[in-house]
Amino acid sequence: MSDAPRPKGRLSTMSANSADSGRIVSPKIREDDDPASDRSLRPRTLAEYVGQDRVKTNLDIFIQAARKRNEPLDHVLFYGPPGLGKTTLAQIVAAEMGVNLRVTSGPAIERQGDLVSILTNLQPGDVLFIDEIHRLNRLVEEVLYPAMEDFSVDIIVGKGPAARTMRIPLPRFTLVGATTRLALLTGPLRDRFGAVMRLEFYDDASMEQIIQRSSSILGVDLDPAGAKALSSRARGTPRIANRLLRRVRDVAQVQGSGVVTELITNEALTLLEIDHLGLDDTDRRILETVIDKFDGGPVGIDTLAAATAEESDTIMDVYEPFLIQLGFLQRTPRGRVATRRAYEHLNRPYDARPTGVMQHSLFQEPE
Ligand SMILES: Nc1ncnc2c1ncn2[C@@H]1O[C@H](COP(=O)(O)OP(=O)(O)OP(=O)(O)O)[C@@H](O)[C@H]1O
Ligand SMILES: [Mg+2]
Repeated sequence: MSDAPRPKGRLSTMSANSADSGRIVSPKIREDDDPASDRSLRPRTLAEYVGQDRVKTNLDIFIQAARKRNEPLDHVLFYGPPGLGKTTLAQIVAAEMGVNLRVTSGPAIERQGDLVSILTNLQPGDVLFIDEIHRLNRLVEEVLYPAMEDFSVDIIVGKGPAARTMRIPLPRFTLVGATTRLALLTGPLRDRFGAVMRLEFYDDASMEQIIQRSSSILGVDLDPAGAKALSSRARGTPRIANRLLRRVRDVAQVQGSGVVTELITNEALTLLEIDHLGLDDTDRRILETVIDKFDGGPVGIDTLAAATAEESDTIMDVYEPFLIQLGFLQRTPRGRVATRRAYEHLNRPYDARPTGVMQHSLFQEPE
C-alpha cells in the first residue's frame, strides 16, 4: 500500500444502462437529467426536507446531541430504493453539522490505498459520504473497520522481511453510507454504524408538497388538481416526481396554456404510458410475465430477469420495491408471486390460476 494513489473523491453517478435510458419511471440517475436544476431542487436543510418524518426526527435529535457535546456525529447509514433522498440527506447532515462533505462511492474505491488516502486527507469533523456502499470490495472494507471504530488505519511499510505495520491515526470523522440493498452489506460493516435509517416511499400528501415546492423553484404554473394528479402517479419517489413535472410542463407549453392542470397531467402521462398508479410498461411487463408465463409464480428472480430481458439487479432495485409496496408482488423463499391485486390491475381472471404452483420448482434458483 506504499503506492498510495491520489484520492478518488469524485462521485460516480450510477450509470444508467442502455435499456434504462429512455424510461421516465426509472428512479435511477439519467444522463439527460439537468444537473443544474436538479441541484436547485435538492433541499438543503432538514426543515426543507419534506416527509420521512421518522428519519427526520431521529436525525434531528442525533445531530442536536452531537452538536451539544461538540463531537462529530456517529456514523449513519441510509438505505432504501433509488430516488428517495439518501444523497440529499447526506448533504443535509454535513450542512447541519457545519462541516465539509467528501463524496465518493463503493465502485470508485478500487484499492485499499485509494481509501487510505481519502481517509488521511479528511479534516476533523468531516463527513465522508460513500454512496453505493454495498459495492465496496472486501479488502477495501477491511480498511474501513478500524477507521470507523478506532479512527486509525494500519498500513504496511516496506517489503518482504523488512515489512512492518504502521498505525496512522485519523481525525474523528463521520461516515455516511447509502445503499439501495441493505442485505448486501456485510454484518461487520453494518454493525459499525451508530444509526441505520430506512427511507420509505413518500405518501401522496408529501409527494404533493414536494411537487409544489419543485414547481415554484422551476417556475412551473401548476394548479392544485394537477399537483394531486401528478403526486399519485410518481411512485412515491421525489426524483420521479421532478422528472415527470418537467415532462408535464413541456406538454402544458405545447398543447395547453402553459398551466399544468389535471387534464394536461393525464394527457402527458398517457403519452408516457404511465397508468393511474404510476406503473410504466416495464412494471406491467414484469407482472404480465409472472402471471402469463409462470402462472402467477413463484418464479426465481434470475428466471424472471431472463424472461423479461431485464437485469435482475434492475428488477430488484428499481421495479420490485414499488410493486411490493403496492401489494402486487410478493417475495417468497421460492421466488416472486403475483397477488390477486396484480391480476385485477391487469384484468386477468385470478380464479383461472392453477392451484398446483409447485410445478414451477424447476425454475427456482437460489437467491
Ligand atoms: N424529502 C425530499 N423533499 C424534496 N425533494 C426531495 C426529497 N428527497 C429527495 N428529493 C429530490 O429527489 C431527488 C433525488 O434524491 P436523492 O438523489 O437524494 O436520492 P437517492 O436516494 O440518493 O437516490 P439513489 O439511490 O439513486 O442515489 C433530489 O434531487 C431531490 O431534488
Ligand atoms: Mg444517491
